[in-house]
Amino acid sequence: MNHQAVPLRRVVPARLAGFIGPIARDDDGIIEAMAARHASWNPAQLVNRLTVTARLYESVWRVRSLGLLAGRAFPVGEELAELATAVQPALEGGGVVLDVACSEGLYGRHLAHGGAEVVLIDHSSPFLRRALQRCALEDIGDRVDAVRALAAHLPFSDGSVDAVVMGGSLNEIGDEAAALAEMVRVLRPGGRLFCMSLVPADSGAARLAQLLAGPNGIRFPTSARTVAWLGSSMRLVEERRDGIVLRITAEKRSDSPGSGPGPTAG
Ligand SMILES: C[S@@+](CC[C@H](N)C(=O)[O-])C[C@H]1O[C@@H](n2cnc3c(N)ncnc32)[C@H](O)[C@@H]1O
Repeated sequence: MNHQAVPLRRVVPARLAGFIGPIARDDDGIIEAMAARHASWNPAQLVNRLTVTARLYESVWRVRSLGLLAGRAFPVGEELAELATAVQPALEGGGVVLDVACSEGLYGRHLAHGGAEVVLIDHSSPFLRRALQRCALEDIGDRVDAVRALAAHLPFSDGSVDAVVMGGSLNEIGDEAAALAEMVRVLRPGGRLFCMSLVPADSGAARLAQLLAGPNGIRFPTSARTVAWLGSSMRLVEERRDGIVLRITAEKRSDSPGSGPGPTAG
């Protein structure tokens, strides 16, 4: 019998073409890429591994949080429009996006509705399960995959994706510099990165809240430090700040020889 060679892309969706390792799904459809990794978890990360957190996060906290933190009305629709504008130049005609540390996949779902192929990444199975359920309900399940992995160890080959996005997770992932270096590494030249994070507060009450969050493993890197972590292979396209809410858009340089992390800035 004759067996025809089948190009990888006909069996594996484009969004998994750069995936490193065996594509083995659990009963919920989540691809496991963390089994061999040992990680020590901070309290915030442990809370995010609870099913109850995954059920309540987006509807109770996420949709209100930026309005509270930005010091002005900042509806989620405005944030999502900003996200889409930021990555759109890299997604002309489709493209593959990683939503890193995605929770319920707010960013990824929005971009999938816009036609992107999306890979949702988180270390929390309850969050990934919840994200996939939401994608199915929103009829975008065929454009989305979910991978359980650490932000600092993305299971994708160099330059294999068109955009990487991260919403609010830089503050709790633990190894911010390594995570951003990974996000830069997997981006193709011309690919776009969008990252929303919270920076140190100047005022008393917010400052106190940030100090109290410290023991839970929540950190607040400055915008200068965050930009520096992106390294010299990234061109900063836009840096916006409302209150303590920072949004950074950057593009991978086409002439970049490598994608290593930049110097650590203060
Ligand atoms: C603040 S929530 C993210 C919100 C989400 N990106 C959004 O925009 O709604 C933080 C998420 O990061 C995930 N997370 C924390 N540390 C991580 C790590 N090192 N690797 C992967 N995911 C991580 C948590 O499980 C949680 O889902």
